[in-house]
Amino acid sequence: MLAPTLTVLSLFSTVGLCKLYENVAELPTLQYDFVIVGGGTAGNVLASRLTENNKVSVLVLEAGPTWNYTTTPQVGANGVAFPFLRGYMLGGCSAHNGLAYTRGAASDFDRYANLTGDDGWSWNNMLPYFLKNEKWSAPADNHDTKGQFNPAFHGTQGPIDVSVRGYPWSEFEGHVLQTTKELSEEFPFQEDYNAGTPLGIGWMQFTIGGGQRSSSATGYLTSSVLSRPNLHVLLHAQVSKLVNPVQSRVAPSEPLTFQGVQFRFGNSLFVANATKEIILSAGPVGSPSILQHSGVGDATILKRLGIPTVLNLPSVGKNASEHAYSGLSWAVNSNQTVESLFQNPALYDQAFAQWNKTKTGPFVDTSPGTMVGWLRLAPDSPAFKVHADPSPGPDAPHFEVLFQPFGLDIFGPGPYSPTISLVLAMVSPVSRGSVLINSTDPFSAPLIDPGLLSNDFDALAMAEGLQLLLKFVGAPNWKENRYLGAPSVDIASMTPDEVVAYVRGASGPGYHLVGTLGMSPQGAPYGCVDPDLKVKGFAGLRVVDASVLPIVPAAHTQAATYVVAERAADLIKQQWGL
Ligand SMILES: *[C@@H]1O[C@H](CO)[C@@H](O)[C@H](O)[C@H]1NC(C)=O
Ligand SMILES: *[C@@H]1O[C@H](CO)[C@@H](O)[C@H](O)[C@H]1NC(C)=O
Ligand SMILES: *[C@@H]1O[C@H](CO)[C@@H](O)[C@H](O)[C@H]1NC(C)=O
Ligand SMILES: *[C@@H]1O[C@H](CO)[C@@H](O)[C@H](O)[C@H]1NC(C)=O
Ligand SMILES: *[C@@H]1O[C@H](CO)[C@@H](O)[C@H](O)[C@H]1NC(C)=O
Ligand SMILES: *[C@@H]1O[C@H](CO)[C@@H](O)[C@H](O)[C@H]1NC(C)=O
Ligand SMILES: *[C@@H]1O[C@H](CO)[C@@H](O)[C@H](O)[C@H]1NC(C)=O
Repeated sequence: MLAPTLTVLSLFSTVGLCKLYENVAELPTLQYDFVIVGGGTAGNVLASRLTENNKVSVLVLEAGPTWNYTTTPQVGANGVAFPFLRGYMLGGCSAHNGLAYTRGAASDFDRYANLTGDDGWSWNNMLPYFLKNEKWSAPADNHDTKGQFNPAFHGTQGPIDVSVRGYPWSEFEGHVLQTTKELSEEFPFQEDYNAGTPLGIGWMQFTIGGGQRSSSATGYLTSSVLSRPNLHVLLHAQVSKLVNPVQSRVAPSEPLTFQGVQFRFGNSLFVANATKEIILSAGPVGSPSILQHSGVGDATILKRLGIPTVLNLPSVGKNASEHAYSGLSWAVNSNQTVESLFQNPALYDQAFAQWNKTKTGPFVDTSPGTMVGWLRLAPDSPAFKVHADPSPGPDAPHFEVLFQPFGLDIFGPGPYSPTISLVLAMVSPVSRGSVLINSTDPFSAPLIDPGLLSNDFDALAMAEGLQLLLKFVGAPNWKENRYLGAPSVDIASMTPDEVVAYVRGASGPGYHLVGTLGMSPQGAPYGCVDPDLKVKGFAGLRVVDASVLPIVPAAHTQAATYVVAERAADLIKQQWGL
């Protein structure tokens, strides 16, 4: 989720600007072993790992800067078309997301192994990649983190900083913790939700180190990586499509190849050739769009648009899954909420100056972070009459709850009064959507349909999730010192149908879209890429980003995207003997 973020983007703080090309004319060549489309969360991992071997030449094409998309009107959410931001900049979404570091359940990955027939995607086989990606870091306030995470499940040498919150909101956190004691049956304390069995409530982990954002740009494109002569990164280069398909195959089993990547720089089009592989890392919106503009997709759609079909691959852009987010706010009788900063411009400026100078204080966290919960529907939930349990296993959650010491409308115009909020996400959705092109112009936005709450199961489940939030703040400790005040919406006096209607009008996307180029077993008649991430029917063409996850994990997708890319780097090195 793109959480309201107080963490200032410090993209270039550790990125040497020296080896980033800002002009195509300065690139020494347009032929490389590997051309990576997109310098985002995944693309920079590949750029860094593949160029560890100095005989390998790599070009990264990055469109940058950030821009806006809008979804199609969401039928399941009262027809609203939501803004849909994607991180078109170095670091991609890892440079603008809410910094959540959540891996998902072991069963999410075991299900990927099952859906692909490749045990390499199982939790046990992916855990080493989580550790390789991660550098566990002290929080900005240096508080004692014993009992707040389990060191056995964390890396200490990787490129991406991970830490728990670095500024205390003790009164609010105290109530959350006390509830895990008072209602321990339903809301148990969880020491570390990133160890494979996430259920329970514990301290949230963030891709933050030293009070600053850690992104794939700062972590993987360090100045020493950027100074490698075999790595070129071109900015302001927006890819339109793949070109020069070699279609000479005589048998359908013989793979096709694209020789080049066409991109726009300024007002001109250029082509960069890949002698080994083209790697699409343009994200779940960009990658399927580029493939469709290249003539790879559902032939019916391509034909309707007049795009010559290179390969009919009907699953391209389909099977998108996304998380719906909603939540509730309560007034509180306390000054220890973020509103205290928003109410008082002098205090706000002081807090920002503190962060700017010492990387400490309330600006060190996103959201700002405190705690997170992972919960399941009751086993006898009426939602299960609508659809079988979509979660990957009994240890995986249906819900995420973000505990926030501020109201949901903190970025509204005010006035601000002390508020807390519990944000709810349905993290095992049944709904599916799509990303399909609607124009022959590769620079026009595709139709983005996350399918939000389009299946009734998801709306029913969300409604039950809101009841769980009420139960949570119903624990006795919230009444102490008249701490908890009135809720922003009186769910308690609504009928079940009214709560479902409320959910449909008060939910939005989590920006966790995946699945638009999903993996399936080798030879399967559906799916877009094989378990080694090669596009079906092609040689020398891979997709390495969140698009390949066949189902959204019960987690923010940043961590999963990093490990997909880390494993992909090994698969590619293996294939080419690098
Ligand atoms: C890229 O490949 C195309 C088609 O094979 C060729 O015409 C073009 O000269 C190549 N460009 C470079 C820079 O090698
Ligand atoms: C996205 O679009 C909205 C509405 O047009 C605008 O207010 C906002 O500034 C844009 N954000 C970015 C990052 O371009
Ligand atoms: C996936 O799980 C199903 C159901 O448990 C099982 O029948 C199937 O054989 C599994 N497939 C693979 C490739 O492991
Ligand atoms: C979507 O994925 C499922 C497996 O999760 C598969 O059975 C189905 O065929 C896919 N649909 C499309 C349109 O690719
Ligand atoms: C909040 O701060 C104001 C002004 O400092 C003070 O008058 C008020 O008593 C405080 N409220 C609480 C609940 O601490
Ligand atoms: C942040 O710090 C820089 C110097 O490190 C200074 O130039 C800038 O004015 C500071 N900004 C604020 C808002 O304090
Ligand atoms: C899709 O394209 C058609 C034909 O250009 C156009 O009429 C329609 O408005 C487009 N749909 C959207 C949602 O942009």
